[in-house]
Amino acid sequence: MVRREDCPDIRGTAVERPVVEVCDLAMAFGTNTLFRDVSFEVGQGEVFVILGGSGCGKSTLLKLLIGLYPPTQGEIRILGEDLTAIGGRQRRDLLSRLGVMWQSGALFGSMTLLENIMLPLEEHTSLPPAAREEVARVKLGLVGLSEAADRLPAEISGGMAKRAGIARAMALDPPLLFLDEPSAGLDPITSAGLDQLIQDLARDLGTTFIVVTHELQSILAIGDRCIMLDKQAQGMIAEGDPRELRDHATHPTVRAFFRREAA
Ligand SMILES: Nc1ncnc2c1ncn2[C@@H]1O[C@H](COP(=O)(O)OP(=O)(O)OP(=O)(O)O)[C@@H](O)[C@H]1O
Ligand SMILES: [Mg+2]
Repeated sequence: MVRREDCPDIRGTAVERPVVEVCDLAMAFGTNTLFRDVSFEVGQGEVFVILGGSGCGKSTLLKLLIGLYPPTQGEIRILGEDLTAIGGRQRRDLLSRLGVMWQSGALFGSMTLLENIMLPLEEHTSLPPAAREEVARVKLGLVGLSEAADRLPAEISGGMAKRAGIARAMALDPPLLFLDEPSAGLDPITSAGLDQLIQDLARDLGTTFIVVTHELQSILAIGDRCIMLDKQAQGMIAEGDPRELRDHATHPTVRAFFRREAA
């Protein structure tokens, strides 16, 4: 376990207007401890990046943040509410305010993009069909897919599918959006376009993003702050501005990641 006070690459930055507050979080599946002692805050409108090697628990951390699993230990406050303590209606209301795009990005293959994006509106709002369609078209426009509204997922490219996934995650105007490896498998130009989209939405709509990604260029381009998890350390080994970590990190794994060296 990494003790925060022993790790100079963890600054424990306090942010103004936190929308996510994680304190002393631990997660294990049976005897497999993924991480312990994970604490961080994310401020409104920030693009916050979660880094780390395969299998260190990044996707699991996202799942804890959206209430899919209970943590083994620790507290999670989302939009000011204690996720680990609330239940029933209050919990459902909170979770319906979070947008998620999973690693697999899954759109429903038998539905057009427009129908895919209308789906959460059908499930979570009482808007009439014409209004649902209008909202869904606006979201597709935001991600530059107006022209593809009537296409099926099989008829669009991987980059378009990722953007459609973001449009669907945004259907309900979430103040907080979770993206699990949004640019995995995309060419560098499409990936840069997606980065630009994330930055625009954060700046123009004040949406807060929590993004899992391995793409160093992306991290340096869009990440206001990041944390790095490590399987061996079973916890966080870095926290802060990714550009500062690139230039000043002392932990060998953190340095290796940011400088693309073998650890
Ligand atoms: N529901 C589950 N039950 C048991 N073990 C799980 C479960 N979900 C994940 N794990 C295990 O937890 C570890 C972390 O998985 P996770 O998917 O969070 O990693 P990750 O950091 O997102 O990896 P990647 O970069 O490959 O996506 C893995 O060893 C995985 O097998
Ligand atoms: Mg993952």
